[in-house]
Amino acid sequence: MIRAIYPGSFDPVTLGHLDIIKRAAQTVGELIVGVLNNGSKTPLFTIDERVSMLLEVTEGLSNVKVMSFSGLLVDFARQTNANVVVRGLRAISDFEYELQMAQTNRKMNPQVDTMFLATGLEYSYLSSTIVKEVAFFHGDIHEFVPESVAKRVQEKVLEVTRT
Ligand code: PNS
Repeated sequence: MIRAIYPGSFDPVTLGHLDIIKRAAQTVGELIVGVLNNGSKTPLFTIDERVSMLLEVTEGLSNVKVMSFSGLLVDFARQTNANVVVRGLRAISDFEYELQMAQTNRKMNPQVDTMFLATGLEYSYLSSTIVKEVAFFHGDIHEFVPESVAKRVQEKVLEVTRT
């Protein structure tokens, strides 16, 4: 059975991410959505909030697990016995960095291969950064994120701008 990791910051999870999760889950035996707990970045959502949003939107996908990780992805892959990493490619601009990551990961752990999925055309412009930018200017984000996530983003924007 192929156990794969779909790693990311997911700050927050978008419809583009969800599309990759669903498609990857149809291809592999088990998909672990690995949420990076990165001390050097300041995400909008805490690690627990990001995990909780992902748990909500992947409910019903029986072979999908959500876990947080810190440190190197290849170490997380070792710990979870996963040997495939899934990443979405939106455009050629993603390619250089993604290839660099895939090659570095494979150098560090030759057991780990990266599988790229082309992001759905309808989501090719989308990123968590864009979602946050629109939300902070009170734009409508319902086309970009699942309904439950839109609510959480709007609440978070209110919370952050109030303080
Ligand atoms: O959603 P993102 O922020 O584009 O995801 C980037 C992520 C989490 C896949 C990447 O930063 C990562 O794997 N970080 C863990 C640390 C690591 O292993 N770095 C070496 C890869 S070159």
